[in-house]
Amino acid sequence: MAGRFLVAEGIDGSGKSSQVERLRHWLPRSGLMPPGARLLATREPGGTPLGEKLYPMLLNPGLTLHSRTELLLFAADRAQHVETVILPALQEGHWVLSDRFSGSTVAYQGHGRGCDLELVHALEQVATGGLTPDLTLWFDLCPQQARARKTPSQQDRFEGAGLDFTRRVAHGFRKLAMERGWQRIPAGEPWAVVEAAVQAACRSTFAN
Ligand code: TYD
Repeated sequence: MAGRFLVAEGIDGSGKSSQVERLRHWLPRSGLMPPGARLLATREPGGTPLGEKLYPMLLNPGLTLHSRTELLLFAADRAQHVETVILPALQEGHWVLSDRFSGSTVAYQGHGRGCDLELVHALEQVATGGLTPDLTLWFDLCPQQARARKTPSQQDRFEGAGLDFTRRVAHGFRKLAMERGWQRIPAGEPWAVVEAAVQAACRSTFAN
């Protein structure tokens, strides 16, 4: 695979998406990408025409989904995303930056919802076809701090699931970060410190 695959993971309210937006502008100017390579910024859920349709269903707090149904829908969204967006770009030598990937399913549906972890990992293989990120940025923030950043009226299905749920998800991310060698980003620090940590992680991974 000629391109590089970067992923941002973390609990809701960790500031991940805003930093991904900054990274999207910085990376192509950083000198880290080879000439001719473009950066494709994408996200899960979403990222494909199918994903755009699944997104409002997956986040709608008024729609009751069984946890296994939720797990399968995220897996379906991912399979489509990997096959039709991520792999073709990587095969062309481009770089892909995804706001969330399969770690989110392990953390939210596995640790958060309590879906069987063996099933979650088996489905991860099916959905990704074995694709793993070259760099995962883990935005580490304690659940209380994250919660304080969102107003209740903004809450989607997952943000409204309660502090205990978010604590289980945060624990899942921490465990994954250790097991999979993710780069920890101290998301509770001031904005500029977080941004510098993101850039340093990219440099340490991709500079020759
Ligand atoms: P969104 O608001 O798009 O993400 P963010 O908060 O990062 O901007 O919401 C995505 C939600 O979907 C988020 O609460 C996490 C959840 N999610 C899962 O539960 N499982 C998954 O596999 C993915 C990709 C996301």
